[in-house]
Amino acid sequence: MKPKEILVFGASGQIGRNLIRKFTKNNYKVIAVTRNIHQKGYILKTQANPGYLEIVELQNLDLDKIRSLFDNCSICINLVGVLFEKNKNQFNRIHRDFPKILSKLASEKKIEKFVHVSALGVENANDSEYAKSKLEGENQVLKSFKKSIILKPSIVYSVDDNFTTTFMTLLNRIPIIPLYYKGETQFMPIHVSDLTEIIYQVVSKDITEKSIECIGPEVLTFKEIMQILLKAIDKKRLLVPIPFPIAKLMATFLGMLPNPIFTQDQLRLLKYNNVASHKNKTNFDLGLKAEKKLEEELLKYSFNWKSGGQFSRNNTSSTV
Ligand SMILES: NC(=O)c1ccc[n+]([C@@H]2O[C@H](COP(=O)([O-])OP(=O)(O)OC[C@H]3O[C@@H](n4cnc5c(N)ncnc54)[C@H](OP(=O)(O)O)[C@@H]3O)[C@@H](O)[C@H]2O)c1
Repeated sequence: MKPKEILVFGASGQIGRNLIRKFTKNNYKVIAVTRNIHQKGYILKTQANPGYLEIVELQNLDLDKIRSLFDNCSICINLVGVLFEKNKNQFNRIHRDFPKILSKLASEKKIEKFVHVSALGVENANDSEYAKSKLEGENQVLKSFKKSIILKPSIVYSVDDNFTTTFMTLLNRIPIIPLYYKGETQFMPIHVSDLTEIIYQVVSKDITEKSIECIGPEVLTFKEIMQILLKAIDKKRLLVPIPFPIAKLMATFLGMLPNPIFTQDQLRLLKYNNVASHKNKTNFDLGLKAEKKLEEELLKYSFNWKSGGQFSRNNTSSTV
């Protein structure tokens, strides 16, 4: 049987890499689009068996090239997203304008489905530029192509992520962890393999729900997540609630770094709980389970951040 073709934008990211493995193992052919084939090609190449993955470089928004990519595919998945802006208006270009272009092409080419990955909780955070651009993107997609499905995940984690791994490195290195908004903001973390299973089901089954909130099995506050991470790496650290003006100052300072781990916009976003809204269906409502729990999954990779581990401060594996 000829494999079905899936066009994936943002394929080199955490979700994309895992998704390529999921689809190609299930007899789909993936066309993975990246801005830099020299940097990302080798990471992408290892995600699939020969013949099941084609990697395409797209540096600028070349409409004709994007249109031609749609010629052979039946499904398109958009995973392109950024957490901070490197230049002015970048959130809008990436989260609003790009999905609009893709969904219009999906409509023009009459493909089977367009799956757009947005984010949970963006409806509430109307003072965050990230959230506003994500929400506008969702609206544009739903307006342009009827067969679109919007997926809205809470925090996605795995050994491949930028979240648990970055925090475990920080917790290794600094004695005090600041808690913004007393660390009370709630999340429903979902493991990347649970999310890719949901995406796979959405693509391969007759699921027509317009917006699906993708959540894991637990509600955890930011402080509880930090405590779970500390337990996982066997460390004791002070978790200190800090007043808002100091948090703002820290976000301003950190936001000036070239690849900031925290910005003013993220500080605003953190004010809002990242949990199911009850306005859209969740994966659980649709029978799509996500059962992996943060603490149990962390056991599988946190040893790298424990004393003597590869990423710990007192790494004993170093040969120099
Ligand atoms: N990870 C989470 O916790 C989480 C939570 C909620 C929602 N989401 C959303 O899920 C989607 C995928 O997340 P992810 O964690 O896999 O993201 P990621 O690891 O940061 O990867 C995002 C991808 O976007 C592409 N990209 C980045 N900047 C770009 C730019 N300026 N122009 C064009 N492409 C650009 C990159 O592809 P190339 O460098 O190969 O071009 C990269 O592979 C995003 O939309 C994100 O907002 C993620």
